[in-house]
Amino acid sequence: MKKVIVLGSTNVDTILNVQRFPQPGETLAMDGRAVAGGGKGANQAIAAVRSGAQTAFISKVGKEGAADFMIDTFKKDGMNVDHVRCSETAGTGQAYIMVDAHGQNSILIYGGANQDVTVEDVHEAETAIKAADRIVAQFEVPIPAIIEAFKIARANGVQTILNPAPAIKNIPTELLAVTDMIVPNETEAEIITGIKVTDEASMQANAEAMFKLGIKVVIITVGSKGSFYATPTATGFVPAFKVNAVDTTAAGDTFIGALSTKLELDYSNIEAAMTYANKASSIAVQTKGAQNSIPYEKDIQL
Ligand code: RIB
Ligand code: NA
Repeated sequence: MKKVIVLGSTNVDTILNVQRFPQPGETLAMDGRAVAGGGKGANQAIAAVRSGAQTAFISKVGKEGAADFMIDTFKKDGMNVDHVRCSETAGTGQAYIMVDAHGQNSILIYGGANQDVTVEDVHEAETAIKAADRIVAQFEVPIPAIIEAFKIARANGVQTILNPAPAIKNIPTELLAVTDMIVPNETEAEIITGIKVTDEASMQANAEAMFKLGIKVVIITVGSKGSFYATPTATGFVPAFKVNAVDTTAAGDTFIGALSTKLELDYSNIEAAMTYANKASSIAVQTKGAQNSIPYEKDIQL
């Protein structure tokens, strides 16, 4: 069983269902409104634990208790939440997610307690990081904390996986230098390399540019099409499963959590692990909401 530790955000998602996104200055009526567990870190940790990884989570929530329902879910799923701490000053992170009639989303984030994740918090979780096979992080918590966690991981032979989302400019080279595997989407890849993702050749060019930054393995996700991978010895494209998406929120998170559970540490089964992760994510997009739609291993039949 893989031991996965996720460092990242916990958000309460308020999902606003609309036919289409409003234009500036326009007022529209909603079709529905729901509150669900989210946050890229929490979603990825849930996807990992539900696919059978021994999973620990490093995160921060507010004291007001808004995240309690999620923490209950984490525990029910068997996740180690010893390193989910409370912020002294900020409330639980929030995401306001508009989902249109095609299942596309548009998201506003209030970072809240996620912005309070410190290097100190990472140090307190050092033993758990060292005990893991791999650590997974995204950009909804401060970068200094991620760098520190990845440095601890690198020094202890723990594999590091970076999901550079949401996209940010000027990712510190210090972070990329301690990143083993990176999993961007096409926009995030272009921000890192300056190379637009249009076809497989451009994905290959992106991967080569990322190899130069010290990264060993690159997976570029291209939404409903599937994902491209490049290791030092192989490249390929793994197509996605065709389904009717009602809400693509957390599709990428489900892919990453499932992948980090199934991928061998030497990447030898990368296509099989990506196929499994694609399947998991194709199930998640068929139900509204993030965490509640993330499937369990038993429901992911290939
Ligand atoms: O990746 C999806 C997640 O991004 C949502 O759950 C929302 O909380 C935002 O963080
Ligand atoms: Na979903």
